[in-house]
Amino acid sequence: MSDDTTSVVTPTFGSRYMTEPIPKNKLPEEPMDPKAAYQLIHDELQTQGNPTLNMASFVTTVMDEECDRLISENLGVNYIDTEVYRANLEIQNRCVAILNDLCGAPDPKKAWGTECVGSSEAVMLAILTHKRTWQEKRKAEGKPYDRPNIVMGNDVHLVWNKGAVYFEIEQRLIPLHPDRFTISVDEVLAQVDENTICVVGVLGTSYTFQYDPIEEINDALVSLKRDQGLDIPLHVDGASGAFIAPFLNPELKWDFRLEQVKTINISGHKYGLVYPGIGWALWRDADDIPKSLITETNVLGFVEKSFSLNFSRGGAMILAQYYNFIRLGRKGYAQIQKTMRDNARYLAKAVDAMGRFNVINDGTYTPSCCVSLKDETRYKHFTTVFNNC
Ligand SMILES: Cc1ncc(COP(=O)(O)O)c(C=O)c1O
Repeated sequence: MSDDTTSVVTPTFGSRYMTEPIPKNKLPEEPMDPKAAYQLIHDELQTQGNPTLNMASFVTTVMDEECDRLISENLGVNYIDTEVYRANLEIQNRCVAILNDLCGAPDPKKAWGTECVGSSEAVMLAILTHKRTWQEKRKAEGKPYDRPNIVMGNDVHLVWNKGAVYFEIEQRLIPLHPDRFTISVDEVLAQVDENTICVVGVLGTSYTFQYDPIEEINDALVSLKRDQGLDIPLHVDGASGAFIAPFLNPELKWDFRLEQVKTINISGHKYGLVYPGIGWALWRDADDIPKSLITETNVLGFVEKSFSLNFSRGGAMILAQYYNFIRLGRKGYAQIQKTMRDNARYLAKAVDAMGRFNVINDGTYTPSCCVSLKDETRYKHFTTVFNNC
C-alpha cells in the first residue's frame, strides 16, 4: 500500500502516482498501489482503437459472460502441465475430435490434431511435417533432398512466406490476375515437381476471402499420383473458411473427404468465435507426422509425446472453444454464420449501389464483403475488405 497521505482522500487520482512520473522503460524502484497501476494502464489503453471496430485481423471480440467467467477462472492454468490439468487435456482432445469430424476425417481413430496459438503456429507445424516427410522419403530413395519447394498463390498469408524462409523452402508463388484472385489447377500443375513438399489451397484468402478450387486441385493431384507416381500432399489453409463451409456450404468438398488433403489449419479466434489466441492444426492421419518430429516431455514424472512449438501456454481459450461447441452446437454456429453472411450481403449490395466499386466478394464465401475501386485513374488501386466477424 502507498504511504501517500493523499491516497486516503482520493486513493487513485489524487495519489502521487498521478503527479510524479513513473519510468516507462525501466523497472520502477518502488511498488505501486494496485488501483493506481490498474488506472494508469486502463487510461493509456483509452487512446487506442475499439476492438469491436477492428477490421484488420477480424478476430472475435465478444463472448458470453459465462464464458468470460470460465476464462478468468482458468487464467492461471498452464496448458502444458497435462498431468495436473487432466481435464484440460481431455477437453482439448474433444475439441480436436469435433474439428476433425467437422472436417470430414475418414477415420476418427487415426485423425490427430493440436491446439495452437493461432493458425500461424498450426501452419508452421504443417510445413514441418510435409518437409520432413518429403526429406525422409527422398533419403530412403537415395535422391537429393536439399531443394524442397512449396506451391501456393501469391496471396497466401504472410505466415506461409515466413514458414518457407524459416524452414529453407523455395516458394513457388502463383501470381494472381487482375480479374481472378484465386489459383487455378493448371497453374498448380505447372509448378509442382518431385521436390514439392506440398501444395497450399486457401479456404478464404486473406485478401478477397474467396476459396481456391480445392476439390479440383485435389483431383489433379490424385491423377498425378496415379499417372506419374508423384504423391504430393495438399494442405488447406482454413484459417477463416474452415469454420464457415461446414455450416453454410456442407456440400462443398474442401477437407479430409478429399484424398490428398493431409493437413488443415483453422483459427479458432476467427469464425470459431473465440477470443485470441487459439488455432488448430489437424492431420487426417497421425501416422503422417514423422516419428522424428515427436518429442517426449516429462512433467512431474508424467511422460507425454509432444509435437508443438511452444511449451507453456494458457489453457483458457481451449475451454472457451469447447464452451462454444457445447453451447452453440451445429445449429447455433450455422445461425450465427448465416446472420453474418446476410449482413455481408446487405453491405455488398449497398456498396454496389454507390456505383463506384466492383464487388469482388459479396458474402458468397466467408461472411465478408470485398470491393475495389472502379475508377483506378483517380485513386491508387486499393482493395477493401469488410469483415463482420
Ligand atoms: C488465410 C489465413 N491464413 C493464416 C492466417 C494467420 O492466422 P492467425 O492470425 O490465426 O495466426 C490468417 C490470418 O488472418 C489468414 O487469413
